[in-house]
Amino acid sequence: MKQILIVDDNIDNRRDTQSRLDDDFQVAFAESGGQAVQICSKIKPDIVLMEAAMPQMDGFETLARLRERFSPEQLPVIFYTAHADPEIERKAFEAGAADFITKPCSKAAFTHRVNLQYRLAQQQTHLENAIKHLEDSITLFSDMIEFRDESIGGHAQRTTAYTGLLTGELLREGAFADELSQETAEMIERAAPLHDVGKIGIRDVILLKPALLDDEEFGIVKSHTSIGGKILRYMYASSSQPYLEYAIKIAEEHHERFDGKGYPARRRGNEISLCARIVSLADVYDALTDTRTYKKPMSYADACRVITTGAGHQFDPVIVRAFNAVKPAFWKIAQTGGAGLAPSYIQASLRAGGPDF
Ligand SMILES: [Fe+2]
Ligand SMILES: [Fe+2]
Repeated sequence: MKQILIVDDNIDNRRDTQSRLDDDFQVAFAESGGQAVQICSKIKPDIVLMEAAMPQMDGFETLARLRERFSPEQLPVIFYTAHADPEIERKAFEAGAADFITKPCSKAAFTHRVNLQYRLAQQQTHLENAIKHLEDSITLFSDMIEFRDESIGGHAQRTTAYTGLLTGELLREGAFADELSQETAEMIERAAPLHDVGKIGIRDVILLKPALLDDEEFGIVKSHTSIGGKILRYMYASSSQPYLEYAIKIAEEHHERFDGKGYPARRRGNEISLCARIVSLADVYDALTDTRTYKKPMSYADACRVITTGAGHQFDPVIVRAFNAVKPAFWKIAQTGGAGLAPSYIQASLRAGGPDF
């Protein structure tokens, strides 16, 4: 049953509006804007039909209150009013109204427009669910790699947390201002855990070898960059999620080096995407400080030295500078093993500081 909330201070208007709806609408009423906000906070209807002119809280204020909680896609609000002029209509659409129906309006046109908004909202919900499902699959994908290789458990989470520290510091410094904004930083953080997704295509006998790899084996491992790129391009083609564009670049370029001696394309400097330059440092820091099947973890002090001396060689010097500003928080994260990392934890780490090496 489709649920609709009719908001109007006039009882005759409420009844008239109800009489115009199909029988498959389950109708609730609100006599004021305040009551509408209350009802929606308890049970969100599928759609709201609202008078613009009401005493105390008018339709515009009510809509603004609803928009604090629900996006236009989550809760379409249609104004249905006799008080109309082009300026009011403009204001309504600007405030996020889904439609503006002026009385008098034929029953056929009224029903059509209400049903249209209902269907659009349903389709949006289906799309959001499908995207969420796809994202869950992608996360599962990166988790699967870690399940295969117990020695890298938590690597994706820690690399993501380190990436968040670096982008946070770069934003604070105003570095790469033409490329890095709060929005892009969030997308880079979402994309970071997928950087090694291509390892799914590497044979266990090589991926899990408890010793250093020979040249041929290393060549095969290197292909996880292009395999990851292919997988993520395929996912991007079916979902068009913007953060997957970053994920593709990160997967393909996170083993490139600033001096052009990395792989697979030997890109150098700014030829390497900023997101990949950031994740590269985060990835290497974790590889250095974590245990692997073939090596013991490096101390915090030694890892910091490796990163710092890598400025201009392996890493972008601006990103190394950001690392040095927040490295105590890197140390804190490494202590947790990467389980259950959350932004609040990272904030706490920053406040608490780390060892003074
Ligand atoms: Fe990698
Ligand atoms: Fe990695």
